[in-house]
Amino acid sequence: TELSKIRNFSIIAHIDHGKSTLADRLIQRTGGLAEREMSAQVLDNMEIEKERGITIKAQTVRLDWKGHVLNLMDTPGHVDFAYEVSRSLAACEGALLVVDAAQGVEAQTLANVYQSIEHDHEIVPVINKIDLPAAEPEKVRAEIEDVIGIDASQAVLASAKSGIGIDEILDAIVERIPAPTGDADAPLKAMLVDSWYDPYLGVVILVRVMAGTLKKGQQIKFMQAGTTHLIDRVGCFRPKIEQLNDLGVGEIGFITAQIKDVAQARVGDTLTDAKRPAAEALPGFKEVQPVVFCGLFPVDANDFEKLRESISKLRLNDASFSFEMETSAALGFGYRCGFLGLLHLEIIQERLTREYDLDLITTAPSVVYQIELTHGGGHIDLHNPADMPEPNKIETISEPWINATIYVPDEYLGSILKLCQDRRGIQKNLTYVGGRAQATYELPLNEVVFDFYDRLKSLSKGYASFDYHQIGYREGDLVKMGILVNEEPVDALSMIVHRSTAEVRGRGMVERLKELIPRHLFKIPIQAAIGGKVIARETISAMRKDVTAKCYGGDATRKRKLLDKQKKGKAKMREYGSVSIPQEAFIAALRMG
Ligand code: GTP
Repeated sequence: TELSKIRNFSIIAHIDHGKSTLADRLIQRTGGLAEREMSAQVLDNMEIEKERGITIKAQTVRLDWKGHVLNLMDTPGHVDFAYEVSRSLAACEGALLVVDAAQGVEAQTLANVYQSIEHDHEIVPVINKIDLPAAEPEKVRAEIEDVIGIDASQAVLASAKSGIGIDEILDAIVERIPAPTGDADAPLKAMLVDSWYDPYLGVVILVRVMAGTLKKGQQIKFMQAGTTHLIDRVGCFRPKIEQLNDLGVGEIGFITAQIKDVAQARVGDTLTDAKRPAAEALPGFKEVQPVVFCGLFPVDANDFEKLRESISKLRLNDASFSFEMETSAALGFGYRCGFLGLLHLEIIQERLTREYDLDLITTAPSVVYQIELTHGGGHIDLHNPADMPEPNKIETISEPWINATIYVPDEYLGSILKLCQDRRGIQKNLTYVGGRAQATYELPLNEVVFDFYDRLKSLSKGYASFDYHQIGYREGDLVKMGILVNEEPVDALSMIVHRSTAEVRGRGMVERLKELIPRHLFKIPIQAAIGGKVIARETISAMRKDVTAKCYGGDATRKRKLLDKQKKGKAKMREYGSVSIPQEAFIAALRMG
């Protein structure tokens, strides 16, 4: 395709503002799929994505419109996948900015728009859901101008659901978004935008050609990985696979090259011709590092082998999570896994449970701490609270901090500020735009990984939005808090906390465990301790003869649900000395109230 006829664009939208619905409409209108094939959303093609209504993996679709080729790049919609987003944006010249006509601009939208502007994108605002009775398109138009600072006078008013404004959007893409540029005769440079494992095709690699041409049968070199491969397929998605002979400069499409492991095809790498290589790789390559770690152990020790196989299979499709074997005195054999963030952790854990039918115990998620040992003993990166050295061996301990942007309607601002304060946040900025506040905070990542996002949502009835990036390590007064059940330490629940929040955390944890651990025939003390010092304590009283007694008192419905689940489960209890702890307790206990 001629360069002047190509348009590469992505869609920026806050969760639920209608990105997937709009993408499906564009595909339908340009003839990619017949009406009967539109039953399920096409771009969100993983089961969990559908259920949670979020986009996890980037996908791309080629559309034909009035003699032009439009490549729609779908981008992941969550902070955990920020690097993938940045590469998708680097592959485009413009973006549709979809804003819900009833909800207005949200923090995640802002972060992505600014990123898009940094990539010099032409931004086409689309005010979606104008069919809703609560829609206020003019207010939202003004908000886009005030808050984001771009011209919204030409914003397209649309309803992805009812099919209003779809042709106008397609025309606007052709008219307003610039064609890509690049030298067709230069040595090949193609950016690796995404990769995933397909059981039939092997590793599929999504690329944007920046210079030269990619051809079937070509020997290519991955400039960061240093490996060479023979391209055996070239093509695009419409959204069905269409095979092509080549991808010219400016084009987006996929290749396969008999690659077995996605870890070899890292997002951001540069593909070049092995025989006529480019002088230098494309800028912006970054090695993504897991930031949140936790242990995953099978409830039934006999499932360890199954867990090993399942994790290896999942890893085939996701190079961004890491795992290594771990043994725990209480939990036996398992894996210490690293994730890009808490959502990423939950997705992997859910897939292991659901697709591979495993009952798992998840230990307290932890960030990576940097420890300097005394007497020049060196430096360690601590991934697991269980490996924390004795306090007298620690010279300093540092934790990662983030810069968070929170966007919230005025009426909830007070409780959100308190939440940030409680989490050791340092306020950097606070501004108001049209009944909404934008707060910027520096926060320790450790205070955010547990339940910050959930708390933020519940305190604001779902209206607050949140975005963050890491800003480096800072020294802190951090200590290891252990949990003892019936005098036995439960290492899966031990965590590293700041001394100032230890007592609150400890009390929350023991109170929760008191609710979650069923009564036994004897009294069970539950304690939180730092070193040898107990900072919080609860006691589960002994069970009376009457077995139904445990259904009453406390939160009866929750306990009953718990009991129902226990009945269904096979061996969903973990024995700690003489105490049985239900599987749910491990995860639930970590959700601070
Ligand atoms: P993520 O994939 O999480 O980013 O969400 P999304 O932005 O793709 O949102 P999605 O397309 O899944 O739409 C969210 C909800 O809004 C769905 O229930 C849609 O049916 C609904 N929706 C989308 N567009 C419109 C619209 O124009 N009008 C109305 N009334 N509802 C819409």
